[in-house]
Amino acid sequence: MDKPKLITVQVRRGDKNESKLVAYEVPVEAGQSVLGVLQYIYDHLDSSIGFTCSCRIGLCSSCLMRVNGKVVQSCTTLANGDMVIEPYKEDALVRDLVTELPPISQASLNNPKNINPFKDEEV
Ligand code: FES
Repeated sequence: MDKPKLITVQVRRGDKNESKLVAYEVPVEAGQSVLGVLQYIYDHLDSSIGFTCSCRIGLCSSCLMRVNGKVVQSCTTLANGDMVIEPYKEDALVRDLVTELPPISQASLNNPKNINPFKDEEV
């Protein structure tokens, strides 16, 4: 088993009015997801960090974030090195990495294939 690699993770913390990047040093193992990195920060370094997730298998998109400038599902994106993690959409920001998801219409609920949280984003 490989020894964990120490990476620097900068996370945008704050709200719509004021935010800043906060740096954390995190040991990362091969195959660890960005969401796993955030969970490590929450469990071991700073439990005040705000982020959301649900399914953890790439289905619900509740873990959308901008990683090094690209919008991704953090549960299915590997942590390959130093990174900057920001909310996926500034105007939907609640706190830290927590954002409002687009409303899901009744028509979409009747046909889940129509649910597309990426419709306004380049993924
Ligand atoms: S937690 Fe559901 S897609 Fe990432």
